Amino acid sequence: MQSTSQKRDNGNDGVHSAVEFVLNRLKSQPEVAIVAGSGLSEPLTNIITISDHIPYKDIPEFPLPTVVGHKGALIIGTIDGHSVVLFSGRKHLYEGASLEQVVFSALLVSELNIPRLILTNAAGGLNPEFNVGDLMLISEAVNLMFRPFIFSDIHLSERLLRLDASNVFSKLWRERVNALAEKKGIHLRNGVYVATTGPSYETPAEVRFLRICGGDAIGMSTLPEAYVAAALGVEVLGISFITNLLAEIPLKKTSHEEVIQASASAGPQLAKLIRVIINEM
Ligand code: HPA
Repeated sequence: MQSTSQKRDNGNDGVHSAVEFVLNRLKSQPEVAIVAGSGLSEPLTNIITISDHIPYKDIPEFPLPTVVGHKGALIIGTIDGHSVVLFSGRKHLYEGASLEQVVFSALLVSELNIPRLILTNAAGGLNPEFNVGDLMLISEAVNLMFRPFIFSDIHLSERLLRLDASNVFSKLWRERVNALAEKKGIHLRNGVYVATTGPSYETPAEVRFLRICGGDAIGMSTLPEAYVAAALGVEVLGISFITNLLAEIPLKKTSHEEVIQASASAGPQLAKLIRVIINEM
């Protein structure tokens, strides 16, 4: 696809070589971009009719994920005829990455004029009613990353200043998705996502604190990308897959392996939900 002059004026010079590179590989304008959370790449890749698979290492400037469960490739293709791109793997702050690196995919989505972004993640359940395997639509977030979303790019910081933070996860889109899930018999929770940097999991004392904060699920990603994409005019949806339950009295230690293993079982429900969403956008 040819580069167009309709790129948003957001001054993100850092991603421009990546944008040119990806534009040359796109056959059609993607309708939606999806980011796969820890261990979720495989079930999401399985529902795509793949036309191109680009390792992140081949894309200029693209930050490479270093953790287990994050593959590191941009997958281009279609889901039921709808043009999509899947970011198979993401970069986290706990890898020592800069905020700019963490939001690289969101900047790319904006620069490619992709109108919608679905962010998925693996998350721990804080809400005592949640079960492992639940899907939760993120309604709002609590930012406990202790990392203000301040960028050296003044245009981006200005956009974030004007952002309606209560609508980062698009209310209109959420309403549509909730109605669809109900119609199709997909059990979908809604709740508040608490974002931390990790990398250690929460202590029982923190779990007590986080419940008081109103958190339903907790994870170590998603928020920076969501805020930046929304600030740049992309419609954002966030879906958490509950991989483990957190308790105020410790039952057992949470481990990254447990999270990845549980994510592997997310396949059928998550894939079904994503297909339904994409078919009714
Ligand atoms: N805490 C933080 N992040 C997570 C968890 C958790 O329990 N599970 C998956 N990601």
